[in-house]
Parts: sequence; structure tokens; C-alpha cells
Amino acid sequence: MMNENRCGAFILLGLLLCGGRGEALSVPTLPPPTALPAPRTIGDSIFPSLGQAGLDVLNYDLSLTVVRPGTPQLQGEVTLTLTATQPLSQIRLDFVGPTVSAVRWNGRPVVFRTDSAAQKLLVALPKPLLPGTQATLTVSYAGTPGIVRDPDFTFPVDLGWQSVPAAGTGADVAGANFALSEPNGTHSFLPSNDHPSDKATFTTRITVPAGFTAAASGVQVSQTGTQNGPQTFVFSQAQPIPTYALGIHVNKFQRVDSPGVPVGVGGAPVQRRDYFPPGTFFQAKGAYARTDEMLRVLSGWFGPYPFGAYGVAIVTPQLPALETATLTTMPLTSSREPVALHELAHQWFGNDITPADWSDVWLNEGFATYAELLWAQSDGQDGQAMAARWWATLNQFGTRPLVARRAEQLFDTSAYRRGALALHALRVAVGDAQFRAFLQAYVARSSGGTVRTDDLVTLARALTGPIGEAALRLWIESPTLPPLPKLP
Ligand code: ARG
Ligand code: ZN
Repeated sequence: MMNENRCGAFILLGLLLCGGRGEALSVPTLPPPTALPAPRTIGDSIFPSLGQAGLDVLNYDLSLTVVRPGTPQLQGEVTLTLTATQPLSQIRLDFVGPTVSAVRWNGRPVVFRTDSAAQKLLVALPKPLLPGTQATLTVSYAGTPGIVRDPDFTFPVDLGWQSVPAAGTGADVAGANFALSEPNGTHSFLPSNDHPSDKATFTTRITVPAGFTAAASGVQVSQTGTQNGPQTFVFSQAQPIPTYALGIHVNKFQRVDSPGVPVGVGGAPVQRRDYFPPGTFFQAKGAYARTDEMLRVLSGWFGPYPFGAYGVAIVTPQLPALETATLTTMPLTSSREPVALHELAHQWFGNDITPADWSDVWLNEGFATYAELLWAQSDGQDGQAMAARWWATLNQFGTRPLVARRAEQLFDTSAYRRGALALHALRVAVGDAQFRAFLQAYVARSSGGTVRTDDLVTLARALTGPIGEAALRLWIESPTLPPLPKLP
């Protein structure tokens, strides 16, 4: 509905309807008949329709204009720098976003069509993209983002581009927009290979009206504009992240900067900035007062913080918090210290090292949950009691082996608490020194890349031997709840 296809049949009608109006078109020639197989999806075990096999997006250079914050309308242009791992005759991006007006391949107009049922943007290539070569694909679009229903909830939650209408009073007085995409909402506003196995870097340019602030994943590179006119904010996310972790925010923010924390790679300072909507600072700030300390404690366990900046952007709707890269999206109502810690831990587990298949998402949630225990202990609280509470909930409400089999399992209690207890079991089996070395090796060897559950088990065997491997495996695989592991 949102994504009405004006371009008709792929090749012939597309040529007639998809070009500009009236101007002399440089009409691309029809692609030659090709022996290449039809493009396949990535084959995710939970979301089989996502992504394109053989496509490797390296960078998204995204320009978004939000003319009226708080309304859904967007104008966008994105240039993907991409390559292939197998010959591709077509590009099939995930997209159910605003109407596409033009697509260019290496700067030249090409034929495209959208398929809103399949949530795809199909682009015919003038000649196949071969492994080892790079190309750019530019998509221009404008209108209303599409709807991606959260596959995880039975009641409707729409993922992706969010709009918070301006209200007369309080924090929503200005009107706001933000992205909230995990697991598969990014393609509601960004044509993308919307699967965590294809991580990429991002340059994000957001233009907003005078008085508004835009924020996005990465380090701010510039802010330009005329006095009392629209402003363009540019961000560089230089380390690869999964598409779902792209954070974007527009609001009349109060930006609060603090001194950098020297826990980045090689002791580099991590830039610190938090964004608060009007009137929320005093209510929210308590949850974020110890972020610097959290950065130090967690980098002590996991190794250097992987990105150039960290902070939160507060949003007012009641939604789940999300660990958007370098800039966690934090509902005002979830602004509590354990949630803040959990989202910070996801910068390592989820954003820097990322599950290659959605069935392995416990590798995000279990680690981020266990980080809550590590933090509590460093703060003098009883970590074993916390583990016992997790065990009791699982014992009461039931549990499952950790690799998920259905979308409803992705963010369930087992992913979080049983996942965390798997790490607790490993720690109890091998002791703190080996556990810490294991965590740091796990992050270091996959930093910037992707992981599967088997990679974790293989590394446990290599670094901690059969004892560590067995402890982990029991918690990953057992159909029933294993006994609670106890710290000495
Ligand atoms: N990764 C988020 C967190 O625990 C949870 C996201 C839940 N998303 C969802 N679609 N239910 O921090
Ligand atoms: Zn989480």
C-alpha cells in the first residue's frame, strides 16, 4: 500500500514508466540474456526472505531529509558501495520504503522495480557484477516509509522508522523521528541487504529544520546550514555494523558532552555524548551517570571498546531499548541503570561481533545479560544471587535449547537468562582468569565480523579444554534446565 509500484513490469514497462518525465533519457540497454541463476536470498533460518546471497555491501552513504519532524515523510538518497561473492545479474535489496524515483548503477540510470509483497527493490544490471569488482548503486526515494511488523510480538509493533507527533506539552512538544529496527526494520526506510551477515560501514547525513538536532551511529563529522535555516548533520560509522543497529534520531535535543574515556582500541579516547529531548534530562540522567565507569568495567572483561563514541538518545514512546551502534536508543521509561549497562554491553556483543544467522541471537542477549551480573559484582552486589534468580524464572516458566527455531524465541527469557547462565557455567567451570581470557579472545578474533554458536563452542574447546566446552554445551543444547552453576 505504502509502496505502490509505479513501474510496472520489470524491463519493458519499467523503461517506459520509470524514467524521468520529458527529459532526454539515457535509456540503459536491456541486459543480455544470461546464464546466471536467479538471485537467491541469504537463507536465514528464521527470516528466509531477507537479503541477497552473494551480495556484499561495503558502505551505505545515506542522505535523509526530514522536512517535518514527527511526521513519517522522508526524502532519501543512498549510495551503496558493493561487491559480489558470486556473479550477480540482478541486485535484490530489501525495501518496503518510500516511493523510488530513480536508481543509478555506477552513476547511470538503470531499470528497477519494487515488489512490495516481497519487500524487495529489484535492479537489473547492465552487465553482471563479478566477484572482486566494486560498483555503486544509488537509490533516490521519497514519501512514507513502509511497515515492517515486529515478527517477535503477537500484538502489532511496527519496526523501522518511527514518528512521534508533536504534542502541546512536555517532551514531545517538538515532534521526533527515530529508527528502531531490530531485527528486520531497517528496510522500511533504507534499501539495504537487511541481514546481519552483511555488515557495512555507514555515512549518514541528516537534514532537519532549524532548531532540530539530528544524531546517528558513529562520530559526528560536521554540521552545516545557514542561520535560521535547515541544518545537515553528518556522521561516520567507520567500523562495520549490522543494518539493524543503525541508529538515527531527530528531535529538539539537548546534547550533553562529557570528556572522552580512554578505553578504545590502543587506549584511544571514546567520545561521550548523550541526547535528551526537551524536559527529560532531570528524569533520565540518573540512569546514565555511571556510563564512564561502565565503559571501564566492561572493557576490563571484554577488551577495548570497539567504536569511536558512546552515548544514548532518549525517546519518549514505550518501546524496547535498542543498542543502536555508538548511540543506544533508550526509552525514557526504560532509563534504569541495568538496562543502560545491558545496551552498552551490546556494543561488543551484537554490534562489533554479530550473529551470522538470527537463530544465534542468544549470542547477543545472553552476553549482554551476563554483563549485568559482571557489573553488579563490580559494584559489590551478589552476582550468584542474580544468577539464582535467573535460574528460578527459567525453572518456573520453562526453557529451550539456545539456538532459536522461531521468531517468537529471538528475545525470550531463554535467549537472555539461559544465555547468560551458559556463560556463568563456563566461568564457574574454568575460573575467572580463563573466563576473562576467553571473552577477550572471542571478541578479538571476530571483531568487525560475524559469529555462529559453533564458533563459540570451538573456541571454548581450544582455550579452556573439554571442561569448558562441556559446561557451555550443556547449557546450549540440553532440552531441560541444567542445574544452577555456583561460583566458589
Ligand atoms: N536487543 C534489544 C535488547 O535487548 C531487544 C530488542 C527487542 N526487539 C524486538 N523486536 N522485540 O537490548
Ligand atoms: Zn539485549
